Amino acid sequence: MRTLFVTTALPYANGPFHIGHIMEYIQADIWVRYQRMQGNAAHFVGAEDAHGAPIMLAAEKAGNTPEAFIGEIARGRKPYLDGFHIAFDNWHSTHSQENTELSQDIYRRLKKAGLVYEKPVEQLFDPVKGMYRADRYVKGECPNCGAKDQYGDACENCSSVYPATALKNPYSTLTGAKPVVKSSPHHFFRLSDPKCKTFIRAWLETPGRLQPQVVNKAKEWLDGVGDKALADWDISRDPPYFGIRIPDIAEEKYLYVWLDAPIGYLASLKNYCAKKGIDFEKFLQDPNLEQIHFIGKDIIYFHTLFWPAMLEFAGKPYKVPDHVYVHGFITVSGDKMSKSRGTGISPLRYLELGMNAEWLRYYIAAKLNANVEDLDFNPEDFLARVNSDLVGKYVNIAARAAAFISRQFNGELFDFGEEPSVNWADAIAADDAIAAAYEGRELGKVVRDAMAIADRINQHFDHAKPWELAKDPTRQAELHRTCSDAIYGFFVLTVYLAPILPATARRVAAELFGIDRALTFEDRKQRPRRIRAFKHLITRVERKQLDQLFDIASVPQPSAPQRHAEQQQHTAKEHAVDTIGIDDFNKLDLRVARITRAELVEGADKLLKLTLDMGGSTRTVFAGIKSAYAPEKLEGKLAVVVANLAPRTMKFGISEGMVLAASWDKTTAAGDGPGIFLVSPDSGAAPGMRVK
Ligand code: MSP
Ligand code: ZN
Repeated sequence: MRTLFVTTALPYANGPFHIGHIMEYIQADIWVRYQRMQGNAAHFVGAEDAHGAPIMLAAEKAGNTPEAFIGEIARGRKPYLDGFHIAFDNWHSTHSQENTELSQDIYRRLKKAGLVYEKPVEQLFDPVKGMYRADRYVKGECPNCGAKDQYGDACENCSSVYPATALKNPYSTLTGAKPVVKSSPHHFFRLSDPKCKTFIRAWLETPGRLQPQVVNKAKEWLDGVGDKALADWDISRDPPYFGIRIPDIAEEKYLYVWLDAPIGYLASLKNYCAKKGIDFEKFLQDPNLEQIHFIGKDIIYFHTLFWPAMLEFAGKPYKVPDHVYVHGFITVSGDKMSKSRGTGISPLRYLELGMNAEWLRYYIAAKLNANVEDLDFNPEDFLARVNSDLVGKYVNIAARAAAFISRQFNGELFDFGEEPSVNWADAIAADDAIAAAYEGRELGKVVRDAMAIADRINQHFDHAKPWELAKDPTRQAELHRTCSDAIYGFFVLTVYLAPILPATARRVAAELFGIDRALTFEDRKQRPRRIRAFKHLITRVERKQLDQLFDIASVPQPSAPQRHAEQQQHTAKEHAVDTIGIDDFNKLDLRVARITRAELVEGADKLLKLTLDMGGSTRTVFAGIKSAYAPEKLEGKLAVVVANLAPRTMKFGISEGMVLAASWDKTTAAGDGPGIFLVSPDSGAAPGMRVK
């Protein structure tokens, strides 16, 4: 068993998640879920990157303290993470006790190792704001390529990195004033020290650690000469600054945000360990532990030079990263989106429109590989891949085959015994290739291999013409074998796709096969003996939904990410609590049902088990109405049922809906009287009728 400590880059706590963040989380989450399915322990943590001048200034602009500002951003994260099924074990913040302690500890150790020194630095000072070199708040012309309006630390056009004083024609973006040059003592990390460079080189060159493109990029920086030579790293900032104090010195100085940010990975881990009763230091020093960071291509510099060096020279219990896995950027319809300018798709809107998170997970997986390549979200391509591949190929197998099994064979699957059936054997034969592709983050290959299997299953199915077999009483065995084999193939595919489609896999396992736990990779070899009724798994994307997603008015406002966050949270709240539109209401499938049986449930205080005639089909629903109704009083009564509520697995069985009943809401001041009153339609209504 492997023990994995996995992180994604810590998002700046000054705005809601954009599609780039979600893409990174989906990539890492799929990998983590795959590892867990293989029986490995994967501890997956994230956190807010809360410090630095931009956040301090954004908070100030919003009329808020930085603490309140980042707190609000952090509270908005949950709907995104839950909505896209991102299974972090912990979410923390760099503005935390753990991070302060760890950062100060690492700083002290580096100082003790002789790798920190002080020297005066001339910087741009905004005389109007009374503030030193506000990193991203000085703009000018790039000293390298001459591009206009570039920030004071790096050029978005040519990617070169430089000190703000190197900008030509600088101006303060806060006040517009021309900054003056002022001097103050700064603390530096001696990255140019030969022992540092030797270590970094060996770390970079360790076979299998990094993608080749990443090694090359990092080596360009490491081996730079002349004015491109690797410089020591300025790790201090003067007040006013929102960050962690540099310890053991009299002056008020802060650690540069990029020093404490990656330490935030460890802070979140430490916070998680405390919650789980794990010894943090022992955990880190376990020789088995693999430390893995998923990041985007824009932050390679920090993660392949400073971060490993900091950890190496801080010494035990810290350990250097085993892998840094870098992805490219997501573009939308070919449009490059810089992180400061926002992106073309709002992930929250995607969810609010009722679009299925697994469509996006599937689409992103289909387009990802192990290289540092950009990935384009193209609406037409998205629609085609989801509808014709995910739904048209994969889901379609079960939709077609399960109906025959349920109708003609009472849910029993054909017993092939020792004989491997064709589709099952074909699917199983791909297991090593699929496993290797997951491990190597070749998610596009996983999807291609899975869809090739789905194609073959569908072809076999079409070729056998089960709809004709079904009409011929002498060919029932053939029909049974054909459909069962398709279902076995579908089951293996579900195991393969489970990291990408966790919710669907869970439903398939529980609802179709009665397996009420998360699937493991080992489960692929199982051949379940029977199925339950097939319920629709994944709907198709409608063009209308994509039009709404790209509705220009809904696109994040470029220059004010924090305002957007507030607006979004505000509208989200309004939708959830105050009023809903008719579209929201229409999502409810309310139906009239007749209670044909009502039974007590052993071991349940409040529940009755109801068998409902829905007008053609029957369903089982567990209802918390035992205190108000004797079971025999209910039989024959009509009720109103939420028919499209996701089935819920309870201790006593699966509840396939909910009956409506009236009672006092405890939060309403109006009343607290006892009683639960079943909602019943007027006489004359018939089971199956829609209530609207
Ligand atoms: N706070 C730093 C990271 C600190 S890690 C110790 C940061 N934050 S960020 O919010 O700007 O970016 C977070 C992650 O999102 C980074 O890995 C970044 O590469 C990624 N992405 C930002 N825009 C992206 C796309 N358009 N596409 C894919 N990922 C992108 O950098
Ligand atoms: Zn440039």
